[in-house]
Formats: sequence, C-alpha cells, structure tokens
Amino acid sequence: MENKGIAELFSSIAQRYNLLNHILSLGLDFHWRAKTIKEISPEKHEKILDICAGTGDLSALALKYGAKPLALDLSYSMLKIARKRLKNLPVVLGNALRLPFRERSFDAAVMGFGLRNLKDPASGIREAYRVLRPGGRLAILEFSPEPSWFLRPFYMLYLKKLVPLLGGLITGKREAYLHLSHSIESFLKPREVIELMERTGFSVNYFKLTMGTVVLYIGKKEEQ
Ligand SMILES: C[S@@+](CC[C@H](N)C(=O)[O-])C[C@H]1O[C@@H](n2cnc3c(N)ncnc32)[C@H](O)[C@@H]1O
Repeated sequence: MENKGIAELFSSIAQRYNLLNHILSLGLDFHWRAKTIKEISPEKHEKILDICAGTGDLSALALKYGAKPLALDLSYSMLKIARKRLKNLPVVLGNALRLPFRERSFDAAVMGFGLRNLKDPASGIREAYRVLRPGGRLAILEFSPEPSWFLRPFYMLYLKKLVPLLGGLITGKREAYLHLSHSIESFLKPREVIELMERTGFSVNYFKLTMGTVVLYIGKKEEQ
C-alpha cells in the first residue's frame, strides 16, 4: 500500500486505535510495550526516536524513564492524539523510509508494530541505523506470521475472522482490520527480519513473546 493510503487507513481508525489494541490483544500489548522499553533501558535524557509512533504508547513509556522521546509518524491524526495525551512530546509528521534527521542524532530508536506497514522494511531498518549514534539501540516490536505450531490454526482463525469482525464492529472500518490481518500473514518471518537487521550492521538479540505471536528484536549498532 502507498504511503498516502497507509496514512489514511491509520487516520481513519485513530480515535479507537488504542482501545482496539487492548481488546484484540486481550491486554497483552501493555506487557509487549513495557518489555520493549525495558530492553533498550533508556537512561535519563537519552534521545529516543519513536518511529511509526502512532498515538505515542512507546514514547509515553520512554518518558517514564526520564528519556526524551520524539514521535514520528505518517498520520497526522495519530500524532494529534499522541500530542493530546503527552503535552510535551515533540512530534514530527514524516516518513520512516526517509527520516528527516542527521546521522547519529539518537541514542536509541523504537518501532512498535510499524515495520510490517513499511513498503520497504530493509530501508526502514537502514534509516534507523543511520540516525543512531555508534552503540545506539533499536527495538522493533512486531507480529510474526509464525507463532508456535500448536497455536497456528487458532491464530489464523483469529486473524482472519475475529479481528476484522471486532475491528469492524467497534470502528466501522472493517477493511482497516482486514489489512491488519493480511499484513501479519504476509509479513517477514523472524529469521528474515533478523537477517535484514544483521545485514544493516546491527548485532541482534530477540525475544518471542506470547507463544511467538509477537517478536521483539533488539539491535545494537557497533561502537566506533
Ligand atoms: C500499527 S500502528 C503502531 C503505532 C504505535 N507504534 C504502537 O505501538 O501502537 C503503525 C503506525 O505506523 C505508521 N506508519 C506506517 N507507515 C509509515 C511510514 N512509512 N512512516 C512513518 N509512519 C508510518 C502508521 O501511520 C501508524 O500510525
């Protein structure tokens, strides 16, 4: 999907985005995001770029550590909600594939459920790498098309039937939630994401969460 289409899709569900996240993940998204921020262990005043920030959930957690997050997203409506929630959060309307920042501008970067939406995930990872300082950390939190084998049939049923049904009922935007399901099914396997990150120059560690339905990738840029 083109950037304009993606921005419109997320803008159309922005108002109910957080509520739906909590319902569809049965509240597990709180745990996934908390783990993401914990693993990059932000220090006070560190500059953190929240790429594909949406309504700013990861930025909110980074603020609790005393870090200085900056939220970037394509969707004005999502950022508007982030700003309403977090009055002091700087936000930038921009594209993850062409970050409007100089090299080595950030101590760490996070990308929660954004990679799968990028037209070119490899470029997104390269851009994150470029703007990190040497030794900087990147956390990517993303759904996986490869959950544990015993969960797979239920997971696929859940994605194909329940997610569009509930998403449609609560937001009136069934097609947006169909996109969510399709984008998860057709997304890169964990091994492929790790390969992209390693090829870019990150050393990578990862955690499979909730029986492999979600994977947290932690990349470290080499010290120089
Ligand atoms: C599923 S939401 C995730 C929001 C938030 N990070 C979270 O954890 O809830 C994906 C976000 O990525 C944004 N997005 C998609 N493609 C993008 C791009 N190329 N550049 C910047 N943001 C993008 C969308 O507008 C949307 O807000």
